[in-house]
Amino acid sequence: MTACAEKHVNLTHGDISVLLSEIELRLDQLLPLEGERDCVGAAMREGALAPGKRIRPMLLMLAARDLGCTTSQRGLLDLACAVEMVHAASLILDDMPCMDDAQMRRGRPTIHCQFGEHVAILAAVALLSKAFGVIAAAEGLSATAKNQAVAELSHAVGVQGLVQGQYKDLSEGDKPRSADSILMTNQFKTSTLFCASMQMASIAANATTEAREKLQCFSLDLGQAFQLLDDLADGMTDTGKDCNKDAGKSTLVNLLGAQAVEKRLRDHLYRASQHLASACDNGLSTQHFIQSWFEKKLAAVS
Ligand code: IPE
Ligand code: IPE
Ligand code: MG
Ligand code: MG
Ligand code: MG
Repeated sequence: MTACAEKHVNLTHGDISVLLSEIELRLDQLLPLEGERDCVGAAMREGALAPGKRIRPMLLMLAARDLGCTTSQRGLLDLACAVEMVHAASLILDDMPCMDDAQMRRGRPTIHCQFGEHVAILAAVALLSKAFGVIAAAEGLSATAKNQAVAELSHAVGVQGLVQGQYKDLSEGDKPRSADSILMTNQFKTSTLFCASMQMASIAANATTEAREKLQCFSLDLGQAFQLLDDLADGMTDTGKDCNKDAGKSTLVNLLGAQAVEKRLRDHLYRASQHLASACDNGLSTQHFIQSWFEKKLAAVS
């Protein structure tokens, strides 16, 4: 191991908690100030600041570190917060009555249940718009880096990303579908935002094309593993979300059973880890984080 790698390897639990707090603090600062009569602003804050896992911004920060950035590099936190804002917007819309019709999210009533459907839609649109504004205004990033980051995030949201995934899930999820078709939907609805997070980390770190391609492969597998974990946890009562929301839906769990899905999930994780190892030879922060994160979650679902 090189001296450089040693310098980057050891992130303690304490360091991870600090990073998480920094992300949440910056997210709070970037969102509109609380105004008594500003329902949309309040819904934006609630949608984004309610206690989520923050896995996408955490991975963006850690991967950037493994690619040679320091986590205090200017602009990096803002990129991470932009991804989290897009994610929060996607959850607000996903929960709406015309989509998954969910009552609970992050242990609280969903945004449309708290604020009404009109406010929920507007808050989601405002969060999406804010995400791009945050990148445009980020300090410490070159104009080229910002352009590239906007392009990555825009791709992840659009018809080749979350929008396509959500449409496929809603239009095909109530009918039988093949495992391949489910994987394709999961790629659009979940992997694409992981891909954008890794590409944005690469942009901030000025990573090589080779590293970017490997991180793309990493994100595709990681996103699949993440969605399978979410599907496996559907029957649990402590997710902060409605329990058994996927009953009758053609998920891979309902098609193949939990055991086979856990095996597939571990295969995706293994491949993700291989891709990551070949992309970042500067450090192991991301590897350690993912491994301990998934082991904890898998122990809870099995
Ligand atoms: C939920 O994402 C949507 C999926 C892609 C499964 P998360 O599980 O990351 O949700 P939060 O942010 O922790 O609430
Ligand atoms: C949602 O998938 C994926 C999104 C991009 C919003 P799910 O519908 O399974 O997510 P949860 O279970 O509601 O969080
Ligand atoms: Mg959904
Ligand atoms: Mg849902
Ligand atoms: Mg789900």
